[in-house]
Amino acid sequence: MSDFKMVTPIKEEKFLPNVKNIILVASGKGGVGKSTIAANLAVSLSREGLRTGLLDADIYGPSSPIQFGIADQKPEIIQENGKNYIKPIEKYGVKIMSIGLLTNKEDAMIWRGPMASNTLKKIISDTLWGELDTLVIDMPPGTGDICITLSQDIKQAQALVVITPQQLAVADGRKALAMFDHSSIQIPILGIIENMSWFTPAKHPDEKYFIFGEGGGQELAKEFGVPLLGQIPLVMDIEEMSDKGLSVYHSTNKKTHQAFEELSIKVIDCLALAK
Ligand SMILES: Nc1ncnc2c1ncn2[C@@H]1O[C@H](COP(=O)(O)OP(=O)(O)OP(=O)(O)O)[C@@H](O)[C@H]1O
Ligand SMILES: [Mg+2]
Repeated sequence: MSDFKMVTPIKEEKFLPNVKNIILVASGKGGVGKSTIAANLAVSLSREGLRTGLLDADIYGPSSPIQFGIADQKPEIIQENGKNYIKPIEKYGVKIMSIGLLTNKEDAMIWRGPMASNTLKKIISDTLWGELDTLVIDMPPGTGDICITLSQDIKQAQALVVITPQQLAVADGRKALAMFDHSSIQIPILGIIENMSWFTPAKHPDEKYFIFGEGGGQELAKEFGVPLLGQIPLVMDIEEMSDKGLSVYHSTNKKTHQAFEELSIKVIDCLALAK
């Protein structure tokens, strides 16, 4: 008798049954601010009372250890029923897991295709998230292997696509939206977030300079029939906070707090509507 066994695709069961919503923060283009948005959205959702986790799925360039100032921490390994589980690190009300906390960069760099996706899936399922209302996943740039595998395997996933106003970023955002919409993936799209929508100088918080152009987010939202959930300004303190391992709520810039608060409220509304 053959010892071949049928493997049930994960999507048939519920991947992470104790997690109500999984938000994939993706983009077609690198460097548009996915990690910044994912981290601060997770903090904002937690401030709104949701039990929130953040999974940094960018195995080739993990950001969350630096963004949360936890790069020198090692997650605890806990044994349960003879199996090893990883305890996420908690900071600013968010349970965080990243490949950057588990292994060195050089090891992860040589993982390719299915190995990278399988390692990541194992990390997600072996992490002790507990009961969560939302798990935010910071995706690697583009529409590659990891993005496709996670989208196909996670049943309760919904996507947020981040763009910047430049035509090139809008065109790449269109590719990401088309991927989630594709018949073999079909992930509900929660909406679009336009980052670096305008530049606001620290000394003139009420001024807006549209240095990368205007209207890209609205254009894509209309084209795909999805909401434009937020426009986040380009402000120095966002980058400064991130580099120091702090959230945007540590900055004194109330406009930035407001932008993320409004974004998280809209995301919560969309999650509720999707139920
Ligand atoms: N609204 C903003 N204002 C100022 N700086 C920003 C803003 N958003 C992101 N940045 C900065 O831009 C850089 C790129 O952002 P980030 O790492 O979040 O992008 P990413 O899309 O995750 O990149 P990658 O594709 O490499 O993963 C970072 O230095 C970040 O601090
Ligand atoms: Mg990133």
